[in-house]
Amino acid sequence: MEHPLIMSTSPAQRIREATALGVETVRREVTRGGRGSKSAFLNGKIGAYLTEHSSPPDEVLDDLSAVTATLPEAEMQVPAEQGTLLTILTASIAPGRTIEVGTFTGYSALCIARGLPAGGRLLCLDVSEEWSAIARKHWERAGVSDRIDLVLGPAADSLADLAEEPTFDLAFIDADKVSYQRYYDLLVPRMNPNGVIIVDNVLQYGAVVRPRSENPAVVAVREFNRLLAADSRVQVVMLPIADGLTIARKLPFPREGD
Ligand SMILES: C[S@@+](CC[C@H](N)C(=O)[O-])C[C@H]1O[C@@H](n2cnc3c(N)ncnc32)[C@H](O)[C@@H]1O
Repeated sequence: MEHPLIMSTSPAQRIREATALGVETVRREVTRGGRGSKSAFLNGKIGAYLTEHSSPPDEVLDDLSAVTATLPEAEMQVPAEQGTLLTILTASIAPGRTIEVGTFTGYSALCIARGLPAGGRLLCLDVSEEWSAIARKHWERAGVSDRIDLVLGPAADSLADLAEEPTFDLAFIDADKVSYQRYYDLLVPRMNPNGVIIVDNVLQYGAVVRPRSENPAVVAVREFNRLLAADSRVQVVMLPIADGLTIARKLPFPREGD
């Protein structure tokens, strides 16, 4: 995350500065606390209706959202409905190995971990000791900490340093947006056939279709989306949930005609 105005050497502080500068992602108006749809693409009434007709988060998730809401970076947490979708997808796919790039205070990781079958594992990558401490506490409380491994450090380095095994059945990318392409490139060869890579914030609150937006996150995500749609190794669907979520399935064989 190189930026001329980001001066701090502490990773967590650098991310704070990046978030404040809008480098991390486009800022959004959110309902703090994880409840309520955060979709930029639905009006308030429909958003509320959608939330009312989805399974609500339980007490641990609600408490985690409440703790996260006290942080200036609270908006980085995935909203409740996206967390539920992650649990449903994980439980349906029943992956043996999963990985998350960008864990923050652990909400999405907890949702993935809860969907894991017996013996399934989640590897979380983040840079922040401070935010991870909140995550660990809530994973412990939810009874899932024994299936989660957390590695602190720049995610691209952690991914590059991984041993040849394991490979993954499900990956969730939600760290610094300017590095999405790098994370994807490192992950694709590690995905098992039919494994899915789920990518957050792919619509950047609509800025991806505003050609004049020069926010580095928007420029990077727009280019990432373009390359992903043309990648013959995967089948891709982009959903308008929350800030846009892409699901890319690694094809057992590359698409014909590409
Ligand atoms: C949008 S938040 C993740 C939100 C999380 N998925 C959740 O549901 O709460 C992005 C996270 O990426 C992490 N991050 C940013 N740059 C990173 C990097 N270069 N390597 C690893 N993690 C990074 C930040 O520390 C932050 O916790």
